Amino acid sequence: MIENITSYDAALANASALDTLKWAVDKFGDKMALASSFGAEDVVLIDMLCSVTSCPRAFLLDTGRLHQETYDVVDRIRARYNIRIEVYCPRTETVERLVHEKGPNSFYGSIENRQECCHIRKVEPLSRALSGLDAWITGLRRSQSTTRDGLPKVEIDNAHGGIVKVNPLAEWSEAEVWSYIRERSIPYNKLHDQGYPSIGCAPCTRPVQPGEDIRSGRWWWENPEHKECGLHIKNRG
Ligand code: ADX
Ligand code: SF4
Repeated sequence: MIENITSYDAALANASALDTLKWAVDKFGDKMALASSFGAEDVVLIDMLCSVTSCPRAFLLDTGRLHQETYDVVDRIRARYNIRIEVYCPRTETVERLVHEKGPNSFYGSIENRQECCHIRKVEPLSRALSGLDAWITGLRRSQSTTRDGLPKVEIDNAHGGIVKVNPLAEWSEAEVWSYIRERSIPYNKLHDQGYPSIGCAPCTRPVQPGEDIRSGRWWWENPEHKECGLHIKNRG
């Protein structure tokens, strides 16, 4: 099956996001989970996933530095869909060592320090979240960033043991995401109403001005080509 992923991606070229998810649920069942940061794309996917399976799986990487508004939407989604959210936290001893050695705000000091913090708080917990899975679903979209252009709907994730990565919203625009949310009154992170189109950790996310790049508020002190935290390593050339 895995060898055929390129042909699956081609076959799904004209499939809707919902049909892509249905295909993935049929293929991978409970060996697949949605990675959800509870941003706009992810609440759309939770809504879709709950409509196509009675046992949806979703996990949050709780870095310990998320906004209160993010925890609030976790609760509202849990209540609306009667869904349990799997949570992965960073390893206590590693965070303790980092903060002891470099302080609580080391990420502002250099790209290396920022990547170290993202590795400890996101990337390592992600590897635990994905262990035992055959596939994971993300809310990535091509138009989010230059680092995400050419994103396939289905790909092999070589950075995570060669499991399958499904990106049902690859082709969606930001406007499509918001009309889906509004039409169904899906709970969403209230920071989106305060100028935050993209939401990560509180100390590394700020609001953007109308017309600014949607990811310009993430790690705003770095150049655009560095703005990936390591969750999504590009598999393509
Ligand atoms: S990031 O790599 O820059 O942080 P972004 O915030 O754009 O990623 O989110 C892209 C996708 O990565 C989300 O739709 C979600 O699938 C996954 N993701 C990002 N952050 C988390 C998180 N904290 N917990 C779970 N999944 C996440
Ligand atoms: Fe650390 Fe900031 Fe990365 Fe969150 S986004 S893990 S606080 S560097």
